[in-house]
Amino acid sequence: MKTANTVNEVRSIVREWKKQGLSVGLVPTMGFLHEGHASLIKRAHEENDRVVVSDFVNPTQFGPNEDLESYPRDFERDCRLSEEMGADLVFHPEPSEMYHDPHTYVTIDTLSETLCGVTRPIHFRGVCTVVSKLFNIVTPDRAYFGQKDAQQLAIIRKMVLDMNYGIEIVGCPIIREEDGLAKSSRNTYLSEEERKAALCLSRAVKKGQEVISAGCSSESVLSAMKKIIEAEPLAKIDYVSVVDALDMQPVDKVEKDVLVAMAVYIGKTRLIDNFSFEVA
Ligand code: PAJ
Repeated sequence: MKTANTVNEVRSIVREWKKQGLSVGLVPTMGFLHEGHASLIKRAHEENDRVVVSDFVNPTQFGPNEDLESYPRDFERDCRLSEEMGADLVFHPEPSEMYHDPHTYVTIDTLSETLCGVTRPIHFRGVCTVVSKLFNIVTPDRAYFGQKDAQQLAIIRKMVLDMNYGIEIVGCPIIREEDGLAKSSRNTYLSEEERKAALCLSRAVKKGQEVISAGCSSESVLSAMKKIIEAEPLAKIDYVSVVDALDMQPVDKVEKDVLVAMAVYIGKTRLIDNFSFEVA
């Protein structure tokens, strides 16, 4: 497996692969890889001749009071795991390689204004900008994203459609710990007590899946889920919401495909979880 720190290195490696007619899959990550990331890399390896993993803590998607500085990093371990999962190249640029006094950003309206976009107003601009850049640098045939960040996935799908990227976006299921907690690099911030409290998210997801049905009111789903989270003293709800699966706008009734998504603070750590429901 190769590693590269510069855009030019990645371009020349991918150019060689393309000359040989090989297909390329891209897995964008911010590193500190866990089984969730591993599932994406493995899938990309199964479906493409060559796999590029990007490992870059992207400064433009963090707000001023967020955890950019403390975000966990372990590049050596990331390389080992990427190689085990079948990656051919890990792209690990310095922030200065990706951003030289930028004045151009990729923004998406409507879909970025609800859910996580309310408390993190510049987050999706940063995500769309860095993912666009990665698409332009790597020129993959397919790119892999987790359902764990369901709003991000919906936004990337729309961006690709709107901007004619011609890249297939593959959504992959949420990988969970044995007790249900969705795997996340940010789980490392949790104390032992908080780790137990964090289970209220996956329990609320389970409850939501039990009570939701075609035609039911969003309120009935949300109140059942909120009851579980509110019973946990260490948890504070940022949002729990039922939105249209495509445009991420809140709906009152479950009449079409929806995303039921939440963000909850456990102590200082903000965790997200969600499930999708399809109306047959
Ligand atoms: P990061 O949080 O590192 O996640 C990278 C990819 O792994 C995302 O597509 C995310 O949805 C997926 N992922 C994370 N946890 C998962 C889990 N438990 N199960 C399945 N997939 C999971 O998301 C980002 O980085 C960044 O915003 C990025 C897209 C790289 C842009 O900087």
